[in-house]
Amino acid sequence: VPTADARFVRALADVVGDAHVATDPEITRGYCVDWTGRYVGASPAVVRPSSTAEVAAVIGICREHGVAVVAQGGNTGLVGGGVPLVGELVLSLTRMASVANVDLVAGQVTAQAGSTIAQVQAAAGASSSGLTYAVDLASRASATVGGTIATNAGGLRVVRFGDTRAQLLGIEAVLGDGSVVSHLGGLPRDNTGYDLAGLLAGSEGTLGIVTAARLRLVPVQPFRTTALLGFTSAFTAIDAVVGLRRTAPSIEALELFFRSGLELVCEMAGLQPPLASLPDAYLLVESSGPADPTDELSSAVSALVGVTDAAVTSDGPRRRALWQYRELHTEAISRVGIPHKLDVAIPLRALADFLVEVPHVVASVAPEARVFLFGHAADGNVHVNITGIPVDDLAVDDAVLRSVAERGGSISAEHGIGSAKRKWLHLNRSAAELAAMIAIKRALDPDGILNPNVLLSPVVPRGTVAPRGW
Ligand code: MLT
Ligand code: ZN
Repeated sequence: VPTADARFVRALADVVGDAHVATDPEITRGYCVDWTGRYVGASPAVVRPSSTAEVAAVIGICREHGVAVVAQGGNTGLVGGGVPLVGELVLSLTRMASVANVDLVAGQVTAQAGSTIAQVQAAAGASSSGLTYAVDLASRASATVGGTIATNAGGLRVVRFGDTRAQLLGIEAVLGDGSVVSHLGGLPRDNTGYDLAGLLAGSEGTLGIVTAARLRLVPVQPFRTTALLGFTSAFTAIDAVVGLRRTAPSIEALELFFRSGLELVCEMAGLQPPLASLPDAYLLVESSGPADPTDELSSAVSALVGVTDAAVTSDGPRRRALWQYRELHTEAISRVGIPHKLDVAIPLRALADFLVEVPHVVASVAPEARVFLFGHAADGNVHVNITGIPVDDLAVDDAVLRSVAERGGSISAEHGIGSAKRKWLHLNRSAAELAAMIAIKRALDPDGILNPNVLLSPVVPRGTVAPRGW
C-alpha cells in the first residue's frame, strides 16, 4: 500500500474535513477493488469532497504534490477504469448526490455526479411528473451519473433513446488543470463552440472530473409489453432483431442471451426456465407507448421466421420475472469465477457470424475456458464473458478483440477502455486520432494527474503515486 505523505493528507483534510479523508487500509480497501474482483489496486488515501469547489481544491493539491487521482462513483465499472491500479488517490463523489431543478416545462434535471441512476429516475418521476431518465441499466441502484457520463454508459434502452451522451444538455466538471467549467443552462440547441459535455462523456476521468450534469428527461410510457422469444440459432435470432427494429417502433429494449447463460441464472436464482422447449438463443423484447403496444409487438413477432417458443405479457410482475433471466446474467457468471469481460460491438450484418465464431476463437487459445454471450442486440453490443482462465492471461482478450476489429467492430461498446483494453485501442483508432486525443489530454490535464493508467496513458510502474508527464 502506498503511504500517504503527511503534508498531503493534512492539505486534503483542511479542504474536506478530517472525517472525509481515509488512509486506513481497512477503509480504503473497498475502493481499491472493482466489482468483478479482476482489478485490485492500492491507494494512499480516499478523499470524499462535498462540492465542486472542494473537488477543484483537491485537484489543486494533487497537482502541487504530483499525485495522480482516480475518480470513483458507485464502483460498478468493469474495465479497471475507476480503481487505483497504480497507487492513485481515490476521489469518491458519493457525497455529491443531490438531484435538483426538475424542470417539467423543459423536461430536464440537474444531478450531481454521485447521484445514482435510480435516484435520478426517482427524482424525475416524483410528483407524477410523467417524466423519467432514459438511461437504465441493471446496476441502476449503484451506478452514478458521473461514472455513467465518464464511460458514456449505454444500458438497456439505447435502441430507443440513445446512450448517456445523448441525454447530456450540459456539464460541470473540474479539469485536470484545476479549472471549473460549468454549463448547466440546459438549452437543447446551443451551438456555441466545442461540445465539452460530449467530449467529457466517454473520457473515463482522463480529462476532467464530472461534478454535475444537466440531463434530458423523457415521457414515461404508461403501457408496456414484454416478450421473451426463443430461437434455435444466433442466425435466426439476429434476423429477428433486424426485423423487429424495422417493424416495431415501440421497441424500447431488445436484449440477447443464450441457453448456457440462462442455465446459470436459473441455477443461481432457483428459477424454472422461462420457455419449456429450452431454445438455444433468446431475445427479450420490450415495447412501450402511450397506448397498449401488445398488438404492434405481437404482429411484428408473428411476421418473424424462426421463433420456436414465446412468452408475452404486459402484467408488471410477470414482465419483471422475464427481465430477471437477462439481468441476473452478470451476477450468475461472476459466481462461476472471475470473468474476463469483453464488451464489444459488431455491425449487425456480421453479428450472427461473430456470435457463432467467438467460442471457437476462445477455444483455439484456451480450450479450458467457458464463454457466455449476452448483450444489447439491437445495437450489436455483445458482452463476451470468459471464465476459467487466469485474470492476467491476456491471450484470449487479444484473440477476441482482434476478431472484433477484423469484423469492423468496436472493442468497447459501453463499458469503456479503462486499463483493461488500452493496449488494443490502436485496433480501432488511427495514429491521427490517437494524436488528437493526446493533444486534448495534454491541454486539459497538463500534469497528467487524471487517471494516468486509463485509456491512452503510458504504463506507470505499480506502486507509485507520481504521475508520468505527457
Ligand atoms: C449488462 O449489460 O448487464 C452490463 O453491461 C453488465 C455486464 O456486462 O455484465
Ligand atoms: Zn451491458
